[in-house]
Amino acid sequence: MANSVAFLVALVCALSCAPVSFGGRVPAPPVAYLYPQFYEQSCPKALDIVKSVVAEAVAREPRMAASLLRLHFHDCFVKGCDASLLLDSSGTITSEKRAVPNRDSARGFEVIDEIKYALEKECPSTVSCADILALAARDSTALAGGPSWEVPLGRRDSTGASLSGANNNIPAPNNTFQTILTKFKLKGLDVVDMVALSGSHTIGNARCAVIRQRLYNQTGNGLPDVTLDPHYANQLRAGCPRSGGDQNLFVLDPVSQFTFDNSYFKNLLAYKGLLSSDEILFTNGGESAGLVKKFAASNEAFFEQFAKSMVNMGNILPLTGSQGEIRKRCRKINSY
Ligand code: HEM
Ligand SMILES: *[C@@H]1O[C@H](CO)[C@@H](O)[C@H](O)[C@H]1NC(C)=O
Ligand SMILES: *[C@@H]1O[C@H](CO)[C@@H](O)[C@H](O)[C@H]1NC(C)=O
Repeated sequence: MANSVAFLVALVCALSCAPVSFGGRVPAPPVAYLYPQFYEQSCPKALDIVKSVVAEAVAREPRMAASLLRLHFHDCFVKGCDASLLLDSSGTITSEKRAVPNRDSARGFEVIDEIKYALEKECPSTVSCADILALAARDSTALAGGPSWEVPLGRRDSTGASLSGANNNIPAPNNTFQTILTKFKLKGLDVVDMVALSGSHTIGNARCAVIRQRLYNQTGNGLPDVTLDPHYANQLRAGCPRSGGDQNLFVLDPVSQFTFDNSYFKNLLAYKGLLSSDEILFTNGGESAGLVKKFAASNEAFFEQFAKSMVNMGNILPLTGSQGEIRKRCRKINSY
């Protein structure tokens, strides 16, 4: 029943697509409420402003494209794409930034602040922090040489955060294939999304702390991961000792670390995936390995699927209508 109502709403909205509020009674069918023209009247320059601040930030530091792309993912997998990730601890809020997947690792928050500041000057209390994250992820991908796509907009910002959600829902680099797939499925994403979106690791860095287990003790018996190329493994061990050096950085795609392309998938075929969670996409076999081969063979196929999967990810449980709020500052809820 609730489903058929939601379906009807989705259908109507697919045809006319104006923002609608349901007083929070009907669970949001994610896709329906968001549409690319959301700010066309209320803040026509919004998309250009986001793009230009992202471009400046990436020009200052090329890695920032990767860091901004990752923020959208870590936001969407926790309570939906609602900018919960951006909240600092204060009052009743315990920041998600303290969670294991984010601590010493999630970055780019100052760039989001910079974008928000510019948008508040242009059109106060209009553009949500959640939409900023979605746009910045798209612009970062395109700037790094990847695909571009129209970003459905109209998300609103949460008034809370979930530390436990951040710890439990974001996949870990030492999770099994099944665990990671389950975490994607819980968000309404499938194995195709999982493989395509993992292609984000064509840019950016990872710390020694997240590969050590793989280098020295994957089995729990003091043995390294046999699915890692032995020469590559030796290079990695040189920069990531058994203890110490936790923050030492490694490029996720040694072939072209700042370029968004399909070399990540080619690396997996050569057993040169940096994270265990990367390599298992290939070694697990089946549909997943088939997709790795397909994307390794065709940049075009990868780009096309990546754009679709980013829209899918961006549609995870958005707050819409009168839910949540438009934060004035992304780090704080408005009532503080
Ligand atoms: C499939 C499950 C995934 C796992 C297990 C995973 C895990 C990780 C880990 C462990 C790091 C390094 C963090 C650190 O050094 O502490 C990382 C970096 C990164 N991840 Fe993922 N990730 C996954 C999927 C994704 C998705 C879906 C996206 C984006 C759509 C993404 C984008 C990135 C980017 C761009 C970086 C580099 C960030 C930077 O250099 O600042 N990852 N990921
Ligand atoms: C995965 O890594 C985390 C964090 O380092 C650790 O606590 C956990 O025991 C590891 N899990 C497995 C299955 O090895
Ligand atoms: C390997 O991991 C297991 C299980 O996490 C742990 O009990 C053991 O002490 C580790 N061994 C080495 C050599 O690091």
